[in-house]
Amino acid sequence: MQCQSEVAPRTCVDIHTLEAAALAATRSAAVASYAWVGRHDQKAADAAATTAMREALADAPGRGKVVIGEGEKDDAPMLFNGEIVGNGHGPDFDIAVDPLEGTSFCAKDLPGALATIAFGEPGTLWSPGPGFYMDKIVVPPQAKDVIDLNDPPERTLVKVAEALGKQVSELRVVIMDKPRHKELIARVLRAGAAVQTPAGGDVGGSLAVLLPTLDVDLLLGVGGTPEGVMTAAAVRALGGGMLGRLAPQRDEEADAIRAAGMSLDRIYNCDELVAGDAFFVATGVSGGPLLGRPREGDGTTIAESLLISRGQVRHITHTAFE
Ligand code: FBP
Repeated sequence: MQCQSEVAPRTCVDIHTLEAAALAATRSAAVASYAWVGRHDQKAADAAATTAMREALADAPGRGKVVIGEGEKDDAPMLFNGEIVGNGHGPDFDIAVDPLEGTSFCAKDLPGALATIAFGEPGTLWSPGPGFYMDKIVVPPQAKDVIDLNDPPERTLVKVAEALGKQVSELRVVIMDKPRHKELIARVLRAGAAVQTPAGGDVGGSLAVLLPTLDVDLLLGVGGTPEGVMTAAAVRALGGGMLGRLAPQRDEEADAIRAAGMSLDRIYNCDELVAGDAFFVATGVSGGPLLGRPREGDGTTIAESLLISRGQVRHITHTAFE
């Protein structure tokens, strides 16, 4: 267990005692944003999720710091980097959050929106500084030692296929359907692998790689940095493989990264993105193969969550009586 002290000494205790608080936070965010599913109002959905998560985190037993929040890149409502959460009575912890991951899925009532959070020991979650985007590769445990972000995708496919005991033609790759990925998708298809192209949601895509029932072998491409750190918490907890490298999408972002003294070439492995004990929680908002949406009836709300912690994936159904 790693504990770093800041201004005042921070108490170092097993962060897994905070799993219930994390589940309460994503559950609250999911139920609040569920009211906005299909309302075509991304900002309102994000704001509802953020407010509910902030309120739930205020009750978390301990003192937490938001190391990486979400929203700055698209001016969405957010928990701020450096914001302090928790009731102060309990362990110190750091968090990476996206109260509503897949905001447009929620707004348009499409599958895949999730309320997400990762908890880590103090000082263990990587801060991307002013970097909003990163290039990522996520693979299951058997392929963790063969990946290299400097490899061309064709080589990555051959190496991952070999590690998984498959042919390249048997691989299923998730790449978000973004203009920046046009060439990548074409190359992966030409190499013979199948490509799943969701409109967004690379946390969900990465979880699909980690959960054997979802029949996906790797995730490639550029997505958000908060999503990357949260993904790394899940990957680390399950012993999978992940690499990331800052990939600014605009000149101002690249300039800000350089001005902050950060490298655009450095490749971070999973243990650098999350450098200590951590866990990840998601609750379903708009439904999908991973998690169902909240369901209401007879004075109760049922929500579905995943807790990924200590090598285990737990699927949790919460019933709350109103
Ligand atoms: P939000 O809904 O939280 O904005 O994120 C959705 C998402 O698709 C992420 O999964 C992904 O990492 C990121 O956006 C990619 O950003 P962009 O849509 O700007 O390419």
